Amino acid sequence: MQKNYKIAVIPGDGTGPEVVAEGLKVLKAASKKRGFKLDLHNYDLGGERYKKSGETLPDSVIEELKGFNAIFLGAIGHPDVKPGILEKGILLRLRFELDQYINLRPVKLYPGVETPLKDKGPEHIDFVVVRENTEGLYAGAGGVLKKGTLDEVAVQESINTRKGVERCLRYAFDLCRKRGRAKKLTLCGKTNVLTYAFDLWERAFCQIAKEYPDIKTDYAHVDATCMWMVKNPEWFDVIVTDNMFGDIITDLGAMIQGGMGIAAGGNINPEGVSMFEPIGGSAPKYTGKGEINPLAAISAAMMMIDYLGEEEAAREIEASVIRVISKDLKSLSAGKMGYSTQEVGDLVVKYL
Ligand code: IPM
Ligand code: MN
Repeated sequence: MQKNYKIAVIPGDGTGPEVVAEGLKVLKAASKKRGFKLDLHNYDLGGERYKKSGETLPDSVIEELKGFNAIFLGAIGHPDVKPGILEKGILLRLRFELDQYINLRPVKLYPGVETPLKDKGPEHIDFVVVRENTEGLYAGAGGVLKKGTLDEVAVQESINTRKGVERCLRYAFDLCRKRGRAKKLTLCGKTNVLTYAFDLWERAFCQIAKEYPDIKTDYAHVDATCMWMVKNPEWFDVIVTDNMFGDIITDLGAMIQGGMGIAAGGNINPEGVSMFEPIGGSAPKYTGKGEINPLAAISAAMMMIDYLGEEEAAREIEASVIRVISKDLKSLSAGKMGYSTQEVGDLVVKYL
């Protein structure tokens, strides 16, 4: 029977719609070739809707989204809207409400892509960061007292639950086994200072490790992790970490793999609805110019279809992306590719 995937599409703000269009173009071509169907539904969430109606993410939309196989997201963030409103009101709320407890960020340097790291190539940079995606400093615990006075107190607490930490660690161990590469899992934390939160992480890590005797385990403080990501990225296979540290090290990861033009990620609920996105943001400077690189969004689409079970199609999309990078593009940076956003999408389709 022909497979049919029901996908919610949230193009969002800024360059989101432009790159999402290219991601969908490639997905449609792959679906024709591989014989699966896509049932796409558009949602106009984002800054424009908020400006018109004051709405960020209506409860009814959350309920509807639970009925999809996956969500494809462009970007959230608008220059006219105060930072935090759309990010917390849409992106983070989706992650929390859909319990997408894993943020999966592959850091893979493709052949032909320039990395700022001296003497490093694709054989050195190929790891995955598993970031906890629903707890930590992002949980919103804390508050403010006497705001605006000299006695102001601001508290922002990191929430770490045994359940939340354990399910994240298990996902990372399983992924490490499934990748079947170095089979090494590194816990990234700060056990020397955050002696409550990362003590919990470390104890759970050591305990669960006993169930995975085939996986080598390692530990690095977050500051040292940044150092090794630059100096010896080949040491990493899978890194598991909390929400805040994961946010920070994945931007560093994006830079060493060639920048925001190529970096994609997944917000995963293994038992529910997952959401895939390019991690570059809405890039207001480039909006509407047809200069933004759509490869990150195309890669997010590739991750999504892989996750849904179309592994062959995903492999073919990745191979086409690699071919476009090594044969056609002058650069991965917006405005410097030598092609427009749409032309890059067309090239990926051509090589499929
Ligand atoms: C990311 C982003 C988000 C985060 C922002 C936009 C809220 O930086 O997905 O990494 O901090 O998680
Ligand atoms: Mn981030």
